[in-house]
Amino acid sequence: MINVLFVCLGNICRSPMAEAILRHRLKEAGLDKQVLVDSAGTGDYHIGHVPHEGTREKLDAYEISYDGMKARQVQSSDFEQFDYIIAMDDSNMKHLKDNFDFKQAEVCRMMDFVSDAKEDNVPDPYFTGNFDYTYELLSEACEDFIEYIIKKHHIKG
Ligand code: 4NP
Repeated sequence: MINVLFVCLGNICRSPMAEAILRHRLKEAGLDKQVLVDSAGTGDYHIGHVPHEGTREKLDAYEISYDGMKARQVQSSDFEQFDYIIAMDDSNMKHLKDNFDFKQAEVCRMMDFVSDAKEDNVPDPYFTGNFDYTYELLSEACEDFIEYIIKKHHIKG
């Protein structure tokens, strides 16, 4: 099993959107039994909350399930459980570096998987209000991440 954790600040906008999109795309590709996906926030503001309305609206529009998803905070045991810990931006990345021992986990940013990406960071729609752009970036990055793990781990659907 390949274990993937997406990380943002609040775990209500970007990382739950990435979690839902990746799980959906993996299912379409027949890879859902081989990859476990979760998400968490560096902050504790929204622990236990469902994804933000803007994230839910985008996922509903594309019929992507976010059933049962609730915000939680990143914890040190995540660095033992997860193979990939994928931050949405430099500030999330700095928080992880400053607070955790990465152990064996590969810690990187979401847009690092996209060649010639428009952005290095996924802008925070909690502040920009632009959930369409978040979906566009995350959708492309999830496709490229799947390509990456297929090649790296020699998995097949
Ligand atoms: P996220 O967005 O990190 O993409 O979930 C945010 C959600 C909530 C807050 C900040 C960012 N907040 O400050 O409450």
